[in-house]
Amino acid sequence: MKSGSRGVGARLAIVTGGTSGIGWGFARALAAAGTDLLIVARDRGQLSAACRYIETDFGVSAYPCAADLSLREGVAEVTEALHRLGRHACYLVNSAGSGSPQRFEDTPWSSLARLVDLHCHATANLCHVVIPEMRRRGFGRIINIASLSATISLAGEQEMYSASKAFVIRLSSSLNRRLKSEGVYVTAVCPGLTRTRFHVNDGTAERVRRIPGIIWLEPDAVAAQSLRWNERGRELLVPGRINNLVYHLLRKRFGIVG
Ligand SMILES: NC(=O)c1ccc[n+]([C@@H]2O[C@H](COP(=O)([O-])OP(=O)(O)OC[C@H]3O[C@@H](n4cnc5c(N)ncnc54)[C@H](OP(=O)(O)O)[C@@H]3O)[C@@H](O)[C@H]2O)c1
Repeated sequence: MKSGSRGVGARLAIVTGGTSGIGWGFARALAAAGTDLLIVARDRGQLSAACRYIETDFGVSAYPCAADLSLREGVAEVTEALHRLGRHACYLVNSAGSGSPQRFEDTPWSSLARLVDLHCHATANLCHVVIPEMRRRGFGRIINIASLSATISLAGEQEMYSASKAFVIRLSSSLNRRLKSEGVYVTAVCPGLTRTRFHVNDGTAERVRRIPGIIWLEPDAVAAQSLRWNERGRELLVPGRINNLVYHLLRKRFGIVG
């Protein structure tokens, strides 16, 4: 970790899931804009490598925080890391997430409960940690990664995943509507299929392999569009032209959350 390459005057971003995929896209985009980073993930080796890369390539400070956010104590580890730094987070990106590839009733309850804790509890708790100081300073930027699958109720095998991400959308839009006038912008981002480790990790890589390339999003593009959207104070983003079109067409046809 580089000590104070930008000094305490630089803005700090917390990026959960910042070692891979969409979170890694955010980490590099924010670092390129001169923002110091507190990167949160479980794998310590990947955390160190990510922080080293960020500091070398962008000249900002990057701090690793090893925490499992599917456990209630995970968020406490992030807040302790923040206190140790003596810094306030101007940006929060909640990107840490994982899939739930089996049917609701075939998945052990403990796994489903941890999925909900990761997507709902950790996301809401971290928002709760940073918002008071963001309001006091009149500046805050929060991006919560949900999913396109959360915007519509269709039969599938990802019920708990979609439901937990629907929580993220509703929380983000409600917070944004109340806090926007105080300078705190909260955006829910609903990516469709994105080229990351996500499907390898949840065992669905083979299932999604044949889906045409034109549908797939690149994680860096998702991060870049999300930052632009958030800066405009928008509460919901469905990245990518095709997904956006599908979202609006389905919105007319079915019940929708976002
Ligand atoms: N890829 C897609 O097609 C897609 C589509 C819609 C929505 N999303 C959402 O996008 C977000 C980012 O996913 P991704 O596609 O970038 O996946 P990814 O490449 O697998 O990255 C996931 C990141 O989250 C971290 N993470 C996972 N579980 C964690 C836990 N329990 N505690 C702390 N960190 C954890 C991972 O690091 P460690 O493993 O080291 O903890 C990694 O940094 C997720 O919320 C996902 O639901 C993805």
